[in-house]
Amino acid sequence: MDFIHLKSPGNWINDPNGFIYYKGQYHMFYQHFPYEPWWGTMHWGHAVSDDLVHWKHKGIAIYPSKSFDQNGAFSGNALEQDGKLYIYYTGVKYTNPNPENIHITADYKLEPSQIMFVSEDGEHFDNFNNKRCLIGPAVDASVMSPTDTRDPKVWIHNHTFYMMLGSCEDHMGKLVFFSSKDGVDWKWESGYKSAEFGGIFECPDLFELDGKQVLFCAATDYLKDNLDYQAQEIYKFCTFQEKGCKLSWEKDSFYLDYGMDLYATQTNTDANGERVLFAWMRMPEPKKGANLSWSGLMTMPRVMLIKNGHLYFKPHKNVSDLFTITGAVEPSMNLQIINADYKIYKTEETEDVYMISANVYEDAEISINGYLITYKNGKIMTDRTNVYPKGNYRYFAETPVLQDGNHLSIFVDRDIIEIFANDGEYVLSQVVYFE
Ligand code: FRU
Repeated sequence: MDFIHLKSPGNWINDPNGFIYYKGQYHMFYQHFPYEPWWGTMHWGHAVSDDLVHWKHKGIAIYPSKSFDQNGAFSGNALEQDGKLYIYYTGVKYTNPNPENIHITADYKLEPSQIMFVSEDGEHFDNFNNKRCLIGPAVDASVMSPTDTRDPKVWIHNHTFYMMLGSCEDHMGKLVFFSSKDGVDWKWESGYKSAEFGGIFECPDLFELDGKQVLFCAATDYLKDNLDYQAQEIYKFCTFQEKGCKLSWEKDSFYLDYGMDLYATQTNTDANGERVLFAWMRMPEPKKGANLSWSGLMTMPRVMLIKNGHLYFKPHKNVSDLFTITGAVEPSMNLQIINADYKIYKTEETEDVYMISANVYEDAEISINGYLITYKNGKIMTDRTNVYPKGNYRYFAETPVLQDGNHLSIFVDRDIIEIFANDGEYVLSQVVYFE
């Protein structure tokens, strides 16, 4: 059972997929290569939870079984209709598989189709009888990319189905909209390309929050500094009209998280109707597990609100409510804190996770087993040189100048540290490799 952070059950995982509260339980699927701790032919792994905190792995739900998904089932979302679980994903076929490794392409040429997969109950997934191709690969590259169109998000509004897809054109990210009366026959509605969406727009999400509309974009080639993770997750405020699928967006782009590891978000509403966010935390190297090496884990569930012109991200209440016990951390954790007033909070369940609640003052330093957090000129800065593999990676990160106070809630787990400044004004989350 995974606690707070859903992580790979062994081998590789990436994006969260199909996150939904369905029949009294949370279901989370994820991109999964079950054979090795690196990316390859995509399956959908499956986990369930009663509370967004404790996750039980259920094995593989979707695997290649049709010619349209013979090389993988890429990301997508899930919807409940008539009591059944409807999953939408991108099936891929390689034009040229690599003869030495059939799990990757020889030339990055994919043939993507948008697939609907119906599960009667969220328990059984009939990979032979319940898949249906809704939209095949594009023919006209000005409509959407014939190779890089993927990650459907489907929703229903006033008895009409809408599908949003990530795509690209002329080396710019592009967002494409379709609509349908019955969920089976789809009509192209509109497409929006922009250099603001990176090179390929991946994993699009669009939702309303506090009366504003928000667009999430996983943008490839967003950064140009030659370090690992050029692709970054950003958001924009936008205006979307279902009729004709008309979209416009505001100039400013924001990061969801300043640790730069977070990517490919998935949101949906929880049992109380509050929108919850998960994202993939990228890992440069696998970690050793009890049986299998593993790579990839999810953020803790986060909720959002709009304040001071941008989104605030907070831990979901089901997580923050767990940290009730005050005390000290294990001496082996090597915690050192200078220029801050702080208290440590733990849960009843494990010594592996704790939270530091701190008011930080200029030049404050918090060292967690070699991971360094400093507060300087109003910014939070981190240095993970001591607790991260060697390579062309991002060792240093920082937030913008904090405007809303000087308080940090730092959640420390074995593999990840999530720093929420001033109740979510900015978040900085990073993967760590503690000894
Ligand atoms: C984002 C992504 C998606 C794609 C999936 C493949 O991380 O590239 O666009 O569906 O991962 O695993």
